[in-house]
Amino acid sequence: MTHTAIANVNIALIKYWGKKDIEWNLPLTSSISLTLDAFYTKTTVTYDPTLTADILLIDDEIITGGEYLRVTKYMDKLRKLYSIPFYAKITSYNFVPKKAGLASSSSAFAALAYAATKAYGLNLDSKELSSLARLGSGSASRSIYGGLVLWHEGHDHMSSYAEHLTHMDDLAVIVCLIDETPKKVNSTDAMNRLNEYPDLKELWILSTQDALNDMKEAIIENDFDKMGSIAESHASLMHYIIQETGVSYLTDQSFKVMDLTEKIRNEGIPVYYTMDAGANVKILTKKEYVETIKARYEKLSKVIVSYTGMGVSSL
Ligand code: PMV
Repeated sequence: MTHTAIANVNIALIKYWGKKDIEWNLPLTSSISLTLDAFYTKTTVTYDPTLTADILLIDDEIITGGEYLRVTKYMDKLRKLYSIPFYAKITSYNFVPKKAGLASSSSAFAALAYAATKAYGLNLDSKELSSLARLGSGSASRSIYGGLVLWHEGHDHMSSYAEHLTHMDDLAVIVCLIDETPKKVNSTDAMNRLNEYPDLKELWILSTQDALNDMKEAIIENDFDKMGSIAESHASLMHYIIQETGVSYLTDQSFKVMDLTEKIRNEGIPVYYTMDAGANVKILTKKEYVETIKARYEKLSKVIVSYTGMGVSSL
């Protein structure tokens, strides 16, 4: 009754921002991501009939408080869905720089969904596993798969799942670590503010549907410049929307990295930026350009380079 799983972090090219159902974590729109190979979570779940509550260890530390509650509530949902009668010891290691704004919850809940079902002898297909990971963190639904992934918004638990689109192993992401302090507003709280702004919400939904269709086309055409520019403008739109709801994640340093990206692009190198619920900026490019441009970003921040990663697996 024990199993260990590894899952990678993913980064959204078409962002998920906002929920239409908070309890079931159903997003306002579909989204598209790239799974990264440099950042991952390794999780072991062991069911133990003698336990009277779950035990959670992250990076060798016993976890209590809010983080524990989030995980044990998630395990309660999973136990109810699959009639699992035992509590578990959950041991997790994050190979993601702490608080890097890299959605470590995407790798964490993908690894947990996989390990927790396998440990009980269940063999869910990827689609069901993706829906299950989504209940922990929306972006986790996409970390079940490698490469480029589409998360269908759906309308209920089983219809909101992700699927693999294609691998594309010539892509690279240069992550510029600008701010490693905890975020002021977590993504769920920030997202839910959108419900108080119906016009903005409508703008976001319609623009995201258009961007998603354009991105699907760009992926099919294997047109990197089109993919990059759609991702860049969609991330900028998300940050405009976030700002309008009274939250600000980007700093002066984030804008410097964006400016540098535009400068490098004007020199003829395909580079595009994207940002999530934090100040860090991720540069989308192709493998072949990494060595030429990396040092220029290193003048502005610490950087970590990542390539296309694989989906969740057993260890
Ligand atoms: O999965 P969550 O609840 O951590 O939300 C992720 C939100 C963004 O990272 C900003 C966008 C995305 O699609 O990953």
